[in-house]
Amino acid sequence: MNSTTLSYERPGFAPTEEPRTGPLLEIDPPTFHANFNRKPFLIKHRLVADALFALPRLIELAKRLPPALIEYNAGDIPVSLNPTLTPHTGLSPQETLRRIEECRSWMVLKNIEQDPQYGALLHRCLDEIQTYSEALDPHMRGREGFIFISSPGSITPYHLDPEHNFLLQIRGAKSAALFDPSDRALLSEQELEQRAAGVHRNLVFKESYQAKAAVFDLTPGYGLHFPVTAPHWIKNGNEVSVSFSITFRTPATERRAIIRRVNHDLRRIGWTPTPPGQSALRDAVKYYGFRALRRADYYLRRNRATPAKGYKKAVAGEAED
Ligand SMILES: [Fe+2]
Repeated sequence: MNSTTLSYERPGFAPTEEPRTGPLLEIDPPTFHANFNRKPFLIKHRLVADALFALPRLIELAKRLPPALIEYNAGDIPVSLNPTLTPHTGLSPQETLRRIEECRSWMVLKNIEQDPQYGALLHRCLDEIQTYSEALDPHMRGREGFIFISSPGSITPYHLDPEHNFLLQIRGAKSAALFDPSDRALLSEQELEQRAAGVHRNLVFKESYQAKAAVFDLTPGYGLHFPVTAPHWIKNGNEVSVSFSITFRTPATERRAIIRRVNHDLRRIGWTPTPPGQSALRDAVKYYGFRALRRADYYLRRNRATPAKGYKKAVAGEAED
């Protein structure tokens, strides 16, 4: 394909710049209340024709974002993938987007909340989610948005994410296989601790797991809720896919992650730590201990970086105030 021939003009698609009025999401309150952060469930949205998701606009966004916020690689990869072996295409981000129909790639634009237009859209969507989530997991914070653009047939390897997530399908179709994050036959406490400590998100997938999957076929206009740390893998349909992931954290999700982070360190020195949620006392010691150490470390570093008041005068031979 000629790189000037953009593939975004799909049949029947007419991007609109009209102001967004009314709710953007359609949520069934009983379904949300019964399943939020416990089981995946579908919602509906009204972003399919939004001009922000037309490929030329996404190319412009990719130009504005810092390179560190663009992750992309070949899309024809196995479900179980060692992240150090991820194959790359050699294309630039812009060229990948221009040729997305044919270049067999997978791309994510991260932290799009840093862009005013995309950030405004993210916050509008999450404001609507918060109407329902606040009673179940209060004090939404750490709002982040991600846009996934991928070629026909691309695979997102088996992995987990640390946030509450709603994946809104904008264009093309996806099949998402999700797994129960509390099933320790699938997902060990050690794997959860490693992810909390910053190890790459990918997990090892065994074919035998698939029988336990909840599989959702996502099409434009629908969104899927991913409970925190629910393992999943995704396969695109036969068209280019564009998805908008709206995510957030809460004090409760952050607390759990910190406890697992501490457990990771304890396991490395030979302990067998108690998983979060089993002992209020141990959880509190780990959580507040971690925060106290972090705070002490912060002040030590700051004092090292910024000489104490009067230091410069003293070394210059002047009297201290
Ligand atoms: Fe994910």
